[in-house]
Amino acid sequence: MTRVLEVDPASPDPQALSAAAKVLREGGLVAFPTETVYGLGADATSPEAVRRIYEAKGRPPDNPLIVHVASPDAVPGRLTSVGRRLAERFWPGPLSLVIARGPGIAPEVSCGLDTVAVRMPDHPVALGLIVHAGVPVAAPSANRSGRTSPTTAQHVLEDLEGRLELVLDAGPTRVGLESTVLDLTSDPPAVLRPGGVTLEQLREVVPQATLASEPTGAPRSPGTRYRHYAPRARLRLVEATGAEAAQLIRRLAEAERRAGSRVGALVTSEAARADPGVDLLEELGPAADLAVVACRLYAGLRALDARGADVIFAEAGFAPDGLGRAICDRLRRAGGKCL
Ligand code: TXA
Ligand code: MG
Repeated sequence: MTRVLEVDPASPDPQALSAAAKVLREGGLVAFPTETVYGLGADATSPEAVRRIYEAKGRPPDNPLIVHVASPDAVPGRLTSVGRRLAERFWPGPLSLVIARGPGIAPEVSCGLDTVAVRMPDHPVALGLIVHAGVPVAAPSANRSGRTSPTTAQHVLEDLEGRLELVLDAGPTRVGLESTVLDLTSDPPAVLRPGGVTLEQLREVVPQATLASEPTGAPRSPGTRYRHYAPRARLRLVEATGAEAAQLIRRLAEAERRAGSRVGALVTSEAARADPGVDLLEELGPAADLAVVACRLYAGLRALDARGADVIFAEAGFAPDGLGRAICDRLRRAGGKCL
């Protein structure tokens, strides 16, 4: 049985936090909101508790977890001076740092690697939970492995009901895409996963920061090897924007409908206004506001799945810089075929 506790996102009830912390300390699993997506938390110091995360998600055993802390001083490892400066600038916030692993956390957290990913989330519920638990909290996104990350408590239940003890429901998350993962153990530091903190922002602190090239041999961020963020419907990426994207989708949708498919589209407000001629439409918001687009991306994919789309055409012509880089990355990893 999974319990759901509603909490105020700005000032969560300490009693709810302490009840959730007790579940964690007893080896249970608690889903909680962060500013990015909902996480599936366990006591990072307990091998049994951490193993339950992999089980609940159906997660491959070689894909390590991010450890969440409530202050830079609590990281289970060594923060270099660059790490300290990044933490000062971006924490709490959507940046995970891969650092040399210290003692005190279960080896299962980082799958035997000598590094560990750490971050301090920017959400009163997440921070309150970690403080009440008194231990670092290991937490991947709270979805079944391979599925779209959850931005609401409802999404968590869709995927994991009965597989965890408790969900702290504080409404939809603000960023909507997972944190940026920056590897500080490589020289120069490399972005393994683009996210809420952009490469451009990172370069203000670490000018030499680069994007990790796509894995050829052994992947540097094991998680990037797997198909991710996928809706149930077939996903087709439309490499165009606005009215041009709408026109393209209208043409493609016609053929799909003739073949008997229910057709969905996930497009910006501009493309929606130009009418892509589909059965089911979800809007990403204005193309000029990528923060809104990022925030609605996963919720939009899940909504189209829930409404019974067989195929989803997603507008994907965003410029691959700033937040657009993270949006394009997720659309591609969702397994979308480009048109
Ligand atoms: O925003 C987020 O980061 C969310 C919230 C809940 O904090 N968490 C999240 O976790 O997205 P997850 O498990 O879905 O993604 C963690 C990513 C994976 O791509 C994983 O391979 C990478 O971080 N990672 C974790 N530890 C690593 C390590 N030691 N070295 C390289 N990559 C690592
Ligand atoms: Mg994930």
